[in-house]
Amino acid sequence: MKRYVIAGNWKMNFTPAEATSFINEIKPMIEGKNNCDIIFCAPYVTIAAAQEAAKGSQIKIGAENVHFADKGAYTGEVSAKMLTSCGVEYVIIGHSERRQYFGETDETVNLRTKAALAAGMKVILCLGEVKEQRLAGITKEVVSMQTKLDLAGVSAEDMKNVIIAYEPVWAIGTGLTATPEQADETCGQIRAALAELYGEEIANDTVIQYGGSMNEKNAAELLSKPNVDGGLIGGASLVADKFAAIVDAAQK
Ligand code: PGA
Repeated sequence: MKRYVIAGNWKMNFTPAEATSFINEIKPMIEGKNNCDIIFCAPYVTIAAAQEAAKGSQIKIGAENVHFADKGAYTGEVSAKMLTSCGVEYVIIGHSERRQYFGETDETVNLRTKAALAAGMKVILCLGEVKEQRLAGITKEVVSMQTKLDLAGVSAEDMKNVIIAYEPVWAIGTGLTATPEQADETCGQIRAALAELYGEEIANDTVIQYGGSMNEKNAAELLSKPNVDGGLIGGASLVADKFAAIVDAAQK
């Protein structure tokens, strides 16, 4: 049976108290659902409370970004060492909201990815096309290029700590979802780019998630596709029974 990685991206939601009550609510719902890794990526100030609440469960708590420098004059940023010293193993990098609103580029995404991997973290690397690119028929070119630029200089050895999240930008938070066929096809194109970089074996072993309005209704079909190995979930990761239903869909 395939093993899935189901990750929630809380974005700028949940105070520490809200995160605690969310985790306490969802814990019994996902107990024993062992066919997937379950991660919630939390705002920095919420991480400690979420970790505390998740103790004794299979839930892991990650961060939503990390800076590429070890330390220094980077107001508002957090380093990989700071995260690992707080017991944070997973981090999202390159989310389209970071690229769109905070000026991140493939170059900074690549630097952040390398810094996180060097610190021993596991990276959820997000990429995906915007609507105009899909309409222009250049999705394959866009995701292949992002895969190659974002992973430039990442060793084959480090790829075991990289999860790719394919997130078509037009599907994020919009209620529009890629069809299971579109998700499968594009995740396959990313896998093909990985094969060019690292060979077939590593490409096949890399977890590629789909993200973009995944919810309790469409998860089973999306996750049934051969190239979709999990989900990165925004909106539905804030509602315990919706997220638990996605975890259920990953048990089949
Ligand atoms: P969404 O967000 O599920 O709310 O579309 C997904 C994401 O941005 O990771």
